[in-house]
Amino acid sequence: MTQIKNIGLYTSGGDAPGMNAAIRAVVRSALYYDIEVTGILRGYEGMVRNDMFKMNRKSVSNIVQRGGTILKTARCDAFRTPEGRKLAYDNLKKNNIDALVAIGGDGTFTGAKIFGHEYDIPIVGLPGTIDNDLMGTDFTIGYDTAINTVVNAVDKIRDTAESHDRLFIVEVMGRDSGLIALRTGIAAGAEAILIPENKNGMAGLLDRLENGRKDKTSRIVIAAEGDDAGGAFEIGRIVTERFPHYDTRVSILGHIQRGGKPTCMDRVLASRVGVAAVEALRDGHRNEMIGVIHNEISYTPFEHAIKHDHEISNNFLKIVEILSL
Ligand code: F6P
Repeated sequence: MTQIKNIGLYTSGGDAPGMNAAIRAVVRSALYYDIEVTGILRGYEGMVRNDMFKMNRKSVSNIVQRGGTILKTARCDAFRTPEGRKLAYDNLKKNNIDALVAIGGDGTFTGAKIFGHEYDIPIVGLPGTIDNDLMGTDFTIGYDTAINTVVNAVDKIRDTAESHDRLFIVEVMGRDSGLIALRTGIAAGAEAILIPENKNGMAGLLDRLENGRKDKTSRIVIAAEGDDAGGAFEIGRIVTERFPHYDTRVSILGHIQRGGKPTCMDRVLASRVGVAAVEALRDGHRNEMIGVIHNEISYTPFEHAIKHDHEISNNFLKIVEILSL
């Protein structure tokens, strides 16, 4: 058992629904184990600027259901420099912080990995990003809420596509991951899904439009923003050029995918890994991301968690091809 007295808690990178549930879980479980919690505002920016405050049980009342993050988040160039990280470390010492919990994505854990090796301070991370692009966890906090937001939005787009006999190209987030597009494409009954992990997506779409069923009066195509077809507007331009008889429109869903009330799944995932983070620090874990794999708590070194070599299930792509006939 390691004697941790005061955990510094922060959120970093793109916000994700469920981050507040994770914050609540870390604070409540730390207090349960007689450990203080210091909130650090705006991630590494707050660490460098010494923008910190003591948290208590009431600090996290009535937030489990709220999207966003009460600790706010920001990008921080200063933390990329040794001088900035030294300033951050000195500020942590000033606040008697002797361990950190970082909630975020690959950028967050890249910073935590460097910091955790430069300075003798235990850090554990929670996977908070809608992209679901971290190794070492089946799902990241925010992914389930984001894909439900997308499916609800695409269902609405389908109504107007049906009414006007239109083909819609819908662009979703994910940075360089296609995992949001993949599941939402199946759930929303997409004609095709274009994702960075599948280089034949555009060719497959054009073939489907050329040789597929002619009696379909409307179609939905889901394109991940990182797809190498050039983005939804470029895809729309190519489709319109090749198939002028299709009345094609483009819809970029954008940042609505980052907001909203977290789903039950995201709240439970956030709560589980939040409690596990405090217990992991007490057990001496450091420089690891806490996740859930096959319903069991998992511990993955930061350098492995941030690798982007996740395999895309070709079975999912096959399902889309079969079900969109
Ligand atoms: O990483 C989460 C994410 O929403 C990505 O899917 C997206 O590409 C990016 O953040 C957008 O970043 P920003 O909010 O800084 O525009």
